[in-house]
Amino acid sequence: MREETSNESSNLSSPLGDRGVNRGITLSLLVAADENNVIGKNNKLPWHLPNDLKYFKNLTWAMPILMGRKTFESIGKALSGRKTIVITRNKNWQHKDVTVVHSVSEATQAAKVYEVKEVFVIGGAEIFNSAFNNANRIYLTRIHHQFDGDIFFPVINKDAWQLAKTTFCKRDEKNLYDHTFQVWQRK
Ligand SMILES: NC(=O)c1ccc[n+]([C@@H]2O[C@H](COP(=O)([O-])OP(=O)(O)OC[C@H]3O[C@@H](n4cnc5c(N)ncnc54)[C@H](OP(=O)(O)O)[C@@H]3O)[C@@H](O)[C@H]2O)c1
Repeated sequence: MREETSNESSNLSSPLGDRGVNRGITLSLLVAADENNVIGKNNKLPWHLPNDLKYFKNLTWAMPILMGRKTFESIGKALSGRKTIVITRNKNWQHKDVTVVHSVSEATQAAKVYEVKEVFVIGGAEIFNSAFNNANRIYLTRIHHQFDGDIFFPVINKDAWQLAKTTFCKRDEKNLYDHTFQVWQRK
């Protein structure tokens, strides 16, 4: 099912030291997008792709995941085995299973207490846009299809990012769309 090509660079852990805030931590965006960068519609995912859910689970297991309040409400609960950090401007918003913060920088600070080397920003678009300039890596599942959508991922500028790894997966009886797991690394 998989065809893999890889020219992954040897050092994928480029620090965020440029800004002196997240030294040593890789800030990664983790997203699935269609051919037009659609990532959502009506506060839901437009597709069901079990292979991508498995990929997401493997990458994020035991790791901190940062998400916007709308994405959290779209998922409907804290994901087991992950350390969930939800970003909201609402100082009264709470949930017993998550850490609540009020800015992206506060979210990355909150993730530091877990002493991990990588932190995953998992959406949605508002949070991707806020975190984009500070991100070192993007895990993009490109779904080779065009969906109706109302939420989009930013265009990846190839002057600033290089494709470090691609894994193509052909559609099958459970996964109805061809898709490619891409890893982009900031140059
Ligand atoms: N395909 C994918 O990989 C993927 C991944 C995730 C989500 N999605 C989709 O994306 C959509 C949701 O994305 P979205 O852009 O509408 O919402 P979102 O980014 O999940 O959440 C937006 C909310 O986050 C809070 N927020 C945003 N920026 C903030 C900041 N700078 N400081 C503090 N709080 C901030 C605000 O919460 P308050 O309003 O509470 O203040 C805002 O309303 C859904 O359709 C979902 O299915 C797709």
